[in-house]
Amino acid sequence: MENQLPMLEKDVKKILLTNEQIQQRLKVLAERITEDYKGKDLIVVGILKGSAVFMTDLIRKIDLPLQLDFMVVSSYAGTQTTGQVQILKDLSVDITGKDVLLVEDILDTGTTLFHLTNLLKSRNPASVKIASLLNKPDHRTADIDLEYEGFVIPDEFVIGYGLDYDEKYRNLPYIGVLKEEVYMNKE
Ligand code: IMP
Ligand code: MG
Repeated sequence: MENQLPMLEKDVKKILLTNEQIQQRLKVLAERITEDYKGKDLIVVGILKGSAVFMTDLIRKIDLPLQLDFMVVSSYAGTQTTGQVQILKDLSVDITGKDVLLVEDILDTGTTLFHLTNLLKSRNPASVKIASLLNKPDHRTADIDLEYEGFVIPDEFVIGYGLDYDEKYRNLPYIGVLKEEVYMNKE
């Protein structure tokens, strides 16, 4: 355990990805993004709140002028059959003709990104691509093209580096697995 935040870290079963591993991977992704978007009109769109930490680290490694924006979408709980994603906060800029890079914390079933990508494509951007720090492919139901993938992870509930359990643990500097007893005490 890194043990910089002992009050939070007592709930962590194991560290899956250290901050150092994450930063090294982001450097590789950012270099590819820098190469791919040269001469384009890049707008990086973070999906709040989970992508906030990943996004801020990633953009500081991209050597290009770029624009930032954010969206907030509702969790898909209870809407899986209809597949609707509710937009709680929309973009504040027009993306017509722009190259949109959607930044997400984790790709799980793919429902969120499937609907979001379709919505944004209907606004006539030049392109829409996805960067996700984590990819958990076991429960994927939607067909998603993940252009920039951080890490593939096993089917475990992870926290930290932006990801939460019950809105907590987002400020852990690494990706960890939560101890079962934390869920048990709740449910
Ligand atoms: P999906 O791809 O539409 O199923 O939704 C992905 C969203 O589910 C992510 O943006 C997270 O908010 C949440 N999520 C999925 N797996 C995890 C996890 O292991 N830890 C924390 N949040 C998760
Ligand atoms: Mg999320």
